[in-house]
Amino acid sequence: MSKMHVKLTVNGAAVEGLAEPRTLLIHCLRENLGVTGPHVGCETSHCGACTVDMDGRSVKSCTVFVAQAQGADVTTVEGLVNADGSLSVLQEMFREHYGLQCGFCTSGTITRAHRFLQENPIPTEEQVRFGMAGNLCRCTGYQNIVKAILAAAEMMNAQDKPSSTEGVGQQKVETAE
Ligand code: FES
Ligand code: FES
Repeated sequence: MSKMHVKLTVNGAAVEGLAEPRTLLIHCLRENLGVTGPHVGCETSHCGACTVDMDGRSVKSCTVFVAQAQGADVTTVEGLVNADGSLSVLQEMFREHYGLQCGFCTSGTITRAHRFLQENPIPTEEQVRFGMAGNLCRCTGYQNIVKAILAAAEMMNAQDKPSSTEGVGQQKVETAE
């Protein structure tokens, strides 16, 4: 199949290269760009391990072709850290509240939680559970994930910075092209 010239912004860095249009975004990120935060789980849009933020929406990158992502602004868990490289409030709360065990789901879960909190900065527990329903975790039983997200919301609101993880700390990514 012929290749297309793909241009993306990934974690704040402009990247471009040739790829088959049917290449999945998750494979482009991991294999071509070396952005290995998003994980490959089911590859059928069920588990959420591959979740990234694309143009302000959570997407499962195993179900997005690079042709569909042309020109998009993509943020992965690597791009959610603070400008100085320290963990964001949300990432810290996952650590503090044991919102992860094996960590396989974690990058997708945190990336989804980041977007969820942008959309709903003062969520109820029920809203967190509903908003996170697309991200499966085989380890934690979800309780600590919910606690972490609620704690992050509380801290971010207390700091009066409901969007404190939005658009900050984005790291440059070198392309493999
Ligand atoms: Fe994409 Fe499971 S790998 S949803
Ligand atoms: Fe292991 Fe979620 S921490 S799958």
